[in-house]
Amino acid sequence: MESQVRRRRVTAARRILPDDWERFRDVRLESLRDHPEAFTADLAVESALTRDDWRARCSEAWFTCEIRGVFAGTAKYWRDSGSAKTAHVGHLGALYVRGAFRGQGVGDALIEAVTALAWDEGAEFVVLGVHTKNLSAQALYERHGFKAFGMLPGALKVDGVYWDEIHMVRLLTTGI
Ligand SMILES: CC(C)(COP(=O)(O)OP(=O)(O)OC[C@H]1O[C@@H](n2cnc3c(N)ncnc32)[C@H](O)[C@@H]1OP(=O)(O)O)[C@@H](O)C(=O)NCCC(=O)NCCS
Repeated sequence: MESQVRRRRVTAARRILPDDWERFRDVRLESLRDHPEAFTADLAVESALTRDDWRARCSEAWFTCEIRGVFAGTAKYWRDSGSAKTAHVGHLGALYVRGAFRGQGVGDALIEAVTALAWDEGAEFVVLGVHTKNLSAQALYERHGFKAFGMLPGALKVDGVYWDEIHMVRLLTTGI
């Protein structure tokens, strides 16, 4: 059966490593500057991070697609920490593809990498948030099996403008 995911991937995603910190910082700050409504993180906060902060962040589960030496985008995987009761919940966030690399399957590769890690770590489902007007991101997530399950009105407030957020989930096991 033909996959719903389009076969046009230009490269596989890989984990971001501590020595990648400068390229990681540059693409991450670009994403927050150019798309403030797409991310909960704050540009001012992340702009103030030091070299050591960025290197430490590289030890978290961040992914990129490196194309001819350029970081084409980012994605992050994490699990709820601090309680065994939520250890089965994986999160996908910080998905960004630079303009020059859009429409080439980079988003596909990043989502596949996050989902593969979630599976390997035993997460039972992966959740994410996306604002209601971001139709291209929603279509991308739906191609990867994510389904909307709720909406939080006014989840983000950017320069006085409210953005509603759709919550989506992709089940990795059939136990739920
Ligand atoms: C959402 C996003 C990650 C999609 O990345 P992608 O790898 O380009 O994903 P796709 O290949 O599915 O392309 C998505 C859409 O981008 C548009 N697109 C295609 N080529 C493009 C280009 N050269 N420039 C701009 N947009 C383009 C198309 O509408 C495409 O949808 P379609 O091919 O189904 O018509 C990317 O657009 C992005 O980083 N947006 C800004 C940040 C963001 O919204 N992140 C998601 C947070 S929840």
